[in-house]
Parts: sequence; structure tokens; C-alpha cells
Amino acid sequence: MALYLRLGIIIFFVSMVGSVPRENFKTCEQSSFCRRCRKVEHGKTAYNLLLNTTTQNDSTLYVELYNKDTGVYYNVEFTALKHDLFRLHINEKSPLYPRYEVEYALQDHPQVSQLIVVEKTATYISVANGKNKAILYASPFKIDVYSGNQLVISTNARGLMRFEHLRHKPEPKPEQPGHADQSEQTDQSEPAEQLDQQDQTVQQDQKNEKIENVELNDSEFPGDGAENDPGAWEENFKNHHDAKPYGPEAIALDFSFPGAEHVYGIPEHADSFALKSTKQSEPYRLYNLDVFEYEINERMSLYGAVPVLYAHGKKATSGIFWHNAAETWIDIVSSADNNVVQSIVNFVSGTAKKPQVDTHFMSESGVIDVFFLLGPQPMDTFQQYAQITGSAHLPPIFSLAYHQSRWNYNDQEDVQQISDNYDKYDLPLDVIWLDIEYTDGKKYFTWDERKFPNPLDMVRNLTSKGRKLVVIIDPHIKRDSNYFLHNDATDNGYYVKHRDGKDYEGWCWPGASSYLDFFDPTVRKYYMGLYDLSKFKGTTSDVHIWNDMNEPSVFNGPEVTMPKDLVHYGGWEHRDVHNINGLVYTMATYDALFMRSGGTLRPFILSRSFFAGSQRFAAVWTGDNAADWEHLRISFPMCLSLSISGISFCGADVGGFFKNPESELFIRWYQAGIWLPFFRQHSHIETKRREPWTFNNDVLNIVRESLRLRYSFLPYWYTLFREHEVNGSPVLRPIWAHYPTESESFAIDDQILVGDAILVKSVYQQSITEVPVYFPGEGKVAWYEIETMEKYGAASLVQIPVTLHKIPVFQREGSIVPRKMRVRRSSVAMKNDPYTLVVIANQQGLAMGNLYIDDEASFEYRHGKYLYLRLLFKNNKLTSTMLQKLANYNTRSWLERVNIVNPPKGITKATIYSKALGKADLEVKYNPSNNVLTIRKPGINMGEEWIIDLIA
Ligand SMILES: *[C@@H]1O[C@H](CO)[C@@H](O)[C@H](O)[C@H]1NC(C)=O
Ligand SMILES: *[C@@H]1O[C@H](CO)[C@@H](O)[C@H](O)[C@H]1NC(C)=O
Ligand SMILES: *[C@@H]1O[C@H](CO)[C@@H](O)[C@H](O)[C@H]1NC(C)=O
Ligand SMILES: *[C@@H]1O[C@H](CO)[C@@H](O)[C@H](O)[C@H]1NC(C)=O
Repeated sequence: MALYLRLGIIIFFVSMVGSVPRENFKTCEQSSFCRRCRKVEHGKTAYNLLLNTTTQNDSTLYVELYNKDTGVYYNVEFTALKHDLFRLHINEKSPLYPRYEVEYALQDHPQVSQLIVVEKTATYISVANGKNKAILYASPFKIDVYSGNQLVISTNARGLMRFEHLRHKPEPKPEQPGHADQSEQTDQSEPAEQLDQQDQTVQQDQKNEKIENVELNDSEFPGDGAENDPGAWEENFKNHHDAKPYGPEAIALDFSFPGAEHVYGIPEHADSFALKSTKQSEPYRLYNLDVFEYEINERMSLYGAVPVLYAHGKKATSGIFWHNAAETWIDIVSSADNNVVQSIVNFVSGTAKKPQVDTHFMSESGVIDVFFLLGPQPMDTFQQYAQITGSAHLPPIFSLAYHQSRWNYNDQEDVQQISDNYDKYDLPLDVIWLDIEYTDGKKYFTWDERKFPNPLDMVRNLTSKGRKLVVIIDPHIKRDSNYFLHNDATDNGYYVKHRDGKDYEGWCWPGASSYLDFFDPTVRKYYMGLYDLSKFKGTTSDVHIWNDMNEPSVFNGPEVTMPKDLVHYGGWEHRDVHNINGLVYTMATYDALFMRSGGTLRPFILSRSFFAGSQRFAAVWTGDNAADWEHLRISFPMCLSLSISGISFCGADVGGFFKNPESELFIRWYQAGIWLPFFRQHSHIETKRREPWTFNNDVLNIVRESLRLRYSFLPYWYTLFREHEVNGSPVLRPIWAHYPTESESFAIDDQILVGDAILVKSVYQQSITEVPVYFPGEGKVAWYEIETMEKYGAASLVQIPVTLHKIPVFQREGSIVPRKMRVRRSSVAMKNDPYTLVVIANQQGLAMGNLYIDDEASFEYRHGKYLYLRLLFKNNKLTSTMLQKLANYNTRSWLERVNIVNPPKGITKATIYSKALGKADLEVKYNPSNNVLTIRKPGINMGEEWIIDLIA
């Protein structure tokens, strides 16, 4: 949750109720490094490669880069990686201090492949990595990267590279009258005298660090002009001072994507899936922040950051991963916005009309470290990203089912009531959530003993119904001398520190708070121990964890987060690591829960903040949305962006966190929400209760149907998550992931593909009676409405009538989707239930699908305890074969029914054959009204291989 309005202490928030307090967050112009980087002039790069310094080993080319304006040398490493990637790494040849290199985002060391130097001339070097190649041009410095023979990414083609070398702070000149406040005047910041009374720490810093006027020494720092920026050595924003002891250290680079019609990715923003041009606006910003009541159609930062960007055009998909954890801004210009990039287009391709998107990445500190993802197909590109940052482990199945949350369920009776009511109204439910109020005074790892005297009983009661509990644990620690955690942290020096070594103190839910330094392995080890069942009393292995506020949110900090000049483990400034703070925190929680079960059970963690690689530890949700139609609409594009950026396990609070949804919005939100991977209802403490039975019966019945639909598709979701784990395929996909040449679909983001078989259209307008649906396949692929089996797809764009009862959802011809039709009170209760296969034969009479089965909760699947089945319908035969013969799992589930849509004509009976059972006759029934042939009770165990033969 975000900021609690009743906290009168945060006066500026209270005055901003109802809209995002925009002025609490920086614009590019208010951020000195962004201002400097954005000003770099096109086409005037000062950087040259010194080709005479080239050396190489098997995988990497080393060459020096020289900035002729500053005289500074850099080391360039250009590495060939497996799976069609290149990596470019640039650092200063001899930096004054070490520069931060991102940790924790990559899964392992990326696997290198062989780099071949193809040609070396006086002006360029070309290298190859398998079928892909790159040309490094010396002067002006530029790198062109080719996928096959096609130029897909051109680096520094616009000459916007900037790499601010570290330097000594110039000695201040004696103060000259009338000249002293120069920095504040140009900085547009509030004068230091207006310091908020609350902000003790800032005052402290300012006392220690008198603002001094910097006089330049051009002979020492010729060239890049950073010293002329009054924000280079210190910076004020509102009443906050950033001491910037290391001075200017920004890095920036431009990437052009010839042939691309759109770029995508770089979550998290509440904006369209296809990214917009920033020519007339702020750049997209990546700086993890707790933005209260965020607005949509914005490039402002939100809670998480994944600096991966994909470019897609009809001919190719490619991408770059900008491996940097500091504040980052990204400008985007598309050839579609007028003819801005015409000159580049001409230069690059020789043709004037080719589409192109140009981007410009700007970060506050660190080094340049970029991965080039060379596709060529969309799914290849997404998988390449997963190769380096990893994929989510298979979620325990309960976490893919339905979650009920609220800030807050008051006490243990309330929790029991909610669970009982779900049974009473015949609604499936897997998880109940407790927000911050369950704790004793916001001291995590404790319980409010008045409201929750018997947490263990409460948990066991839930467990007896097949349900789980999730409780919140936040990273801020209450500064209370009666709190063991605060005492341990203080005594052992576990808190994040000021520059002077004192513990940093901020303001959050508990009031005065400090923050454990999760970058310190000793702190992580301590924290992991806190989750031990003997330590965190009242919990069992059926209690899972929600990590909120981990940007981190600091109510009285600059932009509601930590000051950038705080110091973490290893001496790194918060500035360097800010965007991985949430990642490192959830990594520690993951390790804690893994350890809690001795490595046997799959943890479930939900996180608000994230970075590249967070998928390995946690699911995420889109934070504090609101009960309005626009927020319902934006949930699809937001999760789609996350999904292609490695984070498949995404959802949005159903019903909207702030405000009260009216019935129709509530219904539509459930109907859309069941098609996002993480599916939870959640609401703010000041909203009305909104469990489904608090609405009238019509609403309740429709919500029940939605929930049942979600549960019936759990085998399909589960299989998709397994495939995501194995090969990195996103679970949610844009249409162009599978129909890459259909440019009409490139900007569609109110329709998603779930896997490659299910197409969903969100309905997000009130009282609407029909919606346009785009059917991919250019008229050649049929799509069947999942309930009526009505056929669509002959035309690409169709107006589909909608009633309140459902939104448009279709299954593709040629697919087989496994389902479970006996929906019970929880997914656990459905574990041994039989399967139904929905087979849709295409025009050639073919269909195919996969089904993954295991124990749904433990890590035994990593030891081969699973079944992975290929289901194939071909030549009037449906077969189930093991895709991995050595794996095995003893399932009690059996095959209950097969529905064949668009079946061959004149089938009168069927036989089933398996090794265990031999041959048996089966009953078939054809329903001409929906063209479905049903095979009832094949009755075979899902662990068998079998063939069902249709006989005319
Ligand atoms: C490389 O060439 C530059 C001038 O182009 C020269 O200044 C430098 O000394 C040369 N370096 C080596 C290692 O030959
Ligand atoms: C080549 O250099 C890279 C980068 O320093 C290093 O990771 C790799 O192990 C080296 N490869 C060989 C074969 O020495
Ligand atoms: C500027 O810096 C250079 C190199 O450190 C030094 O020799 C020179 O005295 C400085 N000039 C002034 C005006 O401070
Ligand atoms: C657990 O369930 C029992 C039986 O329904 C009930 O009496 C008891 O109050 C419940 N305990 C809690 C803590 O909810």
C-alpha cells in the first residue's frame, strides 16, 4: 500500500488527495545528470576507438576508446554470448574510484561463445558470433549489430554517448560577492533555508557539508562540461540535499533500431504497451518510487524497473538490456513522428521510408554494460533475455489460484468469517492475506496479540480447508528499544548508514524507522533466520510472504525514498544500487523461505518493487491502482510489459486499491483479472468491504462464474509457467509474439494472448454492448469462443456483442487446452481431479498442446518427479506421449473427457489403447449445434501413454 492519509505528519501528501503530487517527483530537467545527458548534441561524438590497441581472446574483443575532448581513455569489451547475444562493456581505463557494476540481476555468468574477427581495417573491425555479426567503427565511434545479414541495432549512431569520468572536486575559489548562490539559482531548487522541520537528517547533512560554489579549472577538466552544471557536486530537490561526494559520473548511449515500428518494455510505467515518443514530453523514467495514486498514460517512474527494451518491426525483433541499477531515463523517437530521424534513416539504410525507432539511455552512475538480443523472432528475443536474467521457478499451484486480500482483515474471527463465507457462497478461494495491521505496532515478525491471539489455530483452520495465509513483511524497521529486531540491528550495525557512519533514520508506517542493509550478506543471513518457524511464532509452512514498500518507500525522504548519498555495504552509495533494492530484499526473503522448508517447498512471495531478475524470487503486482475504468484498462498493458521483460507472474489489484468499484466495474475487473497470472482482490483500509457477497446476487453469480473459469484453466496456467521456467517464454504475450508480421496488431494492448492458444479482450468501458476484437492470423486462423465454440477469425476485425456475463475469450484452432471442470473450494482440493481436454482441430484436422503435472507444491519436480505430456491430434487419432521419458510422477488424476471441436465428419465411435489397459471402446457423442464431439470417460490415468482412435 502507499501512504496512509491519516498520517497527518506528511502534510504535503494530505494536501494532494486525489491526484499524484507530481511536484514531489523530479523531471529530467530537475535531475542534473539527465539534463546534461539530454543536452548532448546529435552527431558530434567525441569518442574514437583506438583500433591499434585491439586484443582478443576466444570470446571477447578488447579495444580502447578515447574521448578527444576530455583526453580520457576507456576500455571496451565486446563479447560473443551463446543464444545469439552480444555484450558491450565500457568502463574508464583508470577510474579515480571503482565504478559500480550491477550484482544480482544476472542469473549466472552469461555463457560465452566464440568470437571471430572477420575483418580489421584502419577504420573498423567486424566480428561474428555464429550467424550474427557486429561492426565496430573507430571514428566516429559506432557499433552496428546485425541479426543474420540484417542491421537491427546501431549504437551511438546519433553520437549521444556520454561517459563522465570520475574526477576530483575542484578546490573552491574564495567567495566572490554577489556570486555565492549561483548553484541554487540555476538549480531551480528551493533554498536551503526552507528546510522542513521534519527532515533532521537533511539539516544534519547540510551542516556538515556547507554548500560551496564551485569554480572551474578548465585545464584539469577540459571537455565534457560537467563542471559547468551546478548540480554536478551537490544537488537540492525540494527540501532535500544530495551531497554527491563523487561528483558527475553519468553514462549515456543511444541505440537506433532500423526497421522497427515500435519499441516495448522498460517497465514499470502506467502507459501503453507500445512505448510513445518522448519528443514532446519527459523521457521514460526508471527510478523505483512509491507514487501515491499514480495516474495512467504517464512516463513517470513507478515501483519497479526493468531496463530491457525490445524493438519490433515486420522483419525482425531485437532488444537491448541496459544492465544498470542507477536512476535511468530513456528518450524515444520514432520515424513515425514526422521525419525527425530521416537523416539517420538515410544513413543507415539508404532508403528514406524505412521505419526506425531511436532511443537514448541515460543513467546517473555505474558503467555501460549492454546486452544485445538478436532475435530474430519475438519469442527468441524474450527467451534470450531470460537466458541472462533467469525465469521464475514453477509457482506452487495455490499461488496461481484466487487470493482475497484487504487492508486489513481486522482479527482472526474476521479471517475465519471470510473463509467460511467463501464456502457458504460456493466460491473457490486459495489464499487470505493480512496487511500491516496484523502486527504489534508495525513491528514485523510479531502479532497483535489482542486481535490475533491464536494465529496458529487460524492458519490451521485455513489449511484444513486447503487454504493458505499470506502476511506482509516490509523492510522498514521500527525504531523502538523494545523491539528485538531494532536492537539486533543497532547493536550489530545492520542498518543503512549516512555518510558519517550514523544509522539512517526515516519515516514509514511505524513512525521513526531504519532500514536493514540487504546488500550486506551478514544482514541477509540474519534476516533469513527471522523466518524460521521457531522464530516467527504463529506461522507454518503454509504461511507465505508479501514484501511491500521495498523501493524503499521512505515517507519523508527525497521523492519518498532514500537519499542517494546514503552508504550501503561495500561503500556503495544508494545512488548506485537504488533500483536493485527491491530485488535484493526479495532475494533474501526467497532464501529465507527456501531455508525454512529445508529446500523442499516452493516459496511464494509477492513484491511491489522489482528489477531485472526479480522473476527468480517473487511475483509482482502493479501497486496501488484505483477503482476506475482507466486503471482496469491499464492492467493489461502493464502486465504485458512486465511479462515480456521476464516477469510473467504479474497481476493488478482486482477492483482497484483506492476507492470503491461500482458493480459493473467490479464484474469487468474479475472477468479481466482471471486472465492475468496473479489474481488477487485487494483494497485500501478506507474503502467499503467488497468481498463478492457484499454485492447483489447477480453480481455474486457472475463473479462465481469468473472464479470457476479461472480454476478450470489452472492446468493450462500451470503448464505455461513450467514452460516459462524451462525456456523463458513469457506466459502473457502480445499478439505480435506469434503473428510478427501483422502490423495492425503492433499497438494493440487491450487484447492479450495467454500462452499461444487463448486470446482475451478486456472490456473496460461502462454500459458497452459491443467491442472490436482483432483476430490474428490474417483470416486464415480460426478462433473459437470458449463457451459457445462459435467460430471467428475469417475477418481480422470484428465487432463482438458483449453482455454483462462475459468478456470475449477465444481458443485458437490447432490447439489442445487441458482443463479441470470439477471446481472445488481450493486448488488443493482439486489436485487429484480428472482432466478435460479441449481439442480444436484446424482445417487440416490437426491440433497440439502440452500438459505438465507434478505435486503442485514441492521441489521434487527438480528431481524428475513430474509428467510432461505432448497431446497430439492427427489423422483422427489423439495421442498422449511423454516428452521427457525419464521423468515420472504418480498422479491419481485421470482423463475424464475429451471435447473435439470441429471434428472429422461421421465419427460413430472411438477406441482407446494403452500398454496398461490394452484396447477398449469408448462412447462418443456429437453435438451439431456447436460442432463438438465429446468422448466421455476415457478413464485412463494421466501417467499412461495412450492413443484414442476416432472411427467413422
Ligand atoms: C594508437 O594510435 C594513436 C593515434 O591514433 C597513438 O596516439 C597511440 O600511441 C597508438 N597506440 C598504440 C598502442 O600503438
Ligand atoms: C575472455 O575475456 C572475458 C572477459 O574478460 C572472460 O570473461 C573470458 O573468460 C575470457 N575467455 C577466455 C577464453 O579467456
Ligand atoms: C588547474 O589544475 C591543474 C592540474 O591539476 C593545476 O596544475 C593548475 O594549477 C590548476 N589551475 C587553477 C587555476 O587552479
Ligand atoms: C478454528 O476453527 C474452530 C472450529 O470451527 C473454531 O472453533 C475456532 O474458533 C477457529 N479458530 C480460529 C483462531 O479461528
